[in-house]
Amino acid sequence: MTNLYECSDLNFAYKLEKQKVKALQGVDLSVQSGEQLLIIGPSGSGKSTLLNLLGLIEPLQKGEIIFQGQSFSRLSEKERNAIRRFKIGFIFQSFLLFEVLTAAENVEYFLSRQGLSRSERKKRVADALEAVGIGDQAHKRPPEMSGGQRQRVAIARALAKHPAVIIADEPTASLDQKTSRDILDVLKSLRTQGVSVIMSSHDPLAESYASRIVHIMDGQLQSGKGGVL
Ligand SMILES: Nc1ncnc2c1ncn2[C@@H]1O[C@H](COP(=O)(O)OP(=O)(O)O)[C@@H](O)[C@H]1O
Ligand SMILES: [Mg+2]
Repeated sequence: MTNLYECSDLNFAYKLEKQKVKALQGVDLSVQSGEQLLIIGPSGSGKSTLLNLLGLIEPLQKGEIIFQGQSFSRLSEKERNAIRRFKIGFIFQSFLLFEVLTAAENVEYFLSRQGLSRSERKKRVADALEAVGIGDQAHKRPPEMSGGQRQRVAIARALAKHPAVIIADEPTASLDQKTSRDILDVLKSLRTQGVSVIMSSHDPLAESYASRIVHIMDGQLQSGKGGVL
């Protein structure tokens, strides 16, 4: 295994008028490639903030993230966009799909600026939809799909990039138990294909799907318990 992320002393605060809300305090975290890491903690503990930093969605305030040997604090805008576009697949709790596009078009949309040929794009879209078990739903639009199917489209969209890592922020939070298990199974299956996954949850159900678990509380990581895979 090689080092995917090396995070040291991450601190992050949101500014609310004159107040500062501390969301992360002194977070150190290493992630190896191939891991399926679960970050578990209650609502408001800092999970989204941490994942947003890892996914280059929020800028670093204090501390450092080294991603595949590259320092996030030293990236140009161009390098930052390239990492977002090629290396990191982000999955949001609320799916964030385009309602007017079909499943296949949603997946293809983010490939459009990757410089791939049309046939390579089509192949990646078909393979990604197949990998998440909805190869036969490619023509459907999100309003015609269930929550679980929509989340599968979102996973396929991330997967089609062939990213170094998939970051999933509470991917099952708006799903029922059965559908949550199905989605966690899909994410787990990615691991056998060598895709690294970093996922957050407040649901203990997710624990049995991780190769390693770290707990977060009040913006601080608690020393780790092992995963079960
Ligand atoms: N945009 C924001 N503005 C102000 N405070 C925020 C914002 N987003 C999150 N917070 C606060 O930062 C802390 C961590 O939030 P968050 O990372 O969203 O936690 P989680 O994802 O674990 O629920 C919480 O106290 C939350 O209220
Ligand atoms: Mg959150």
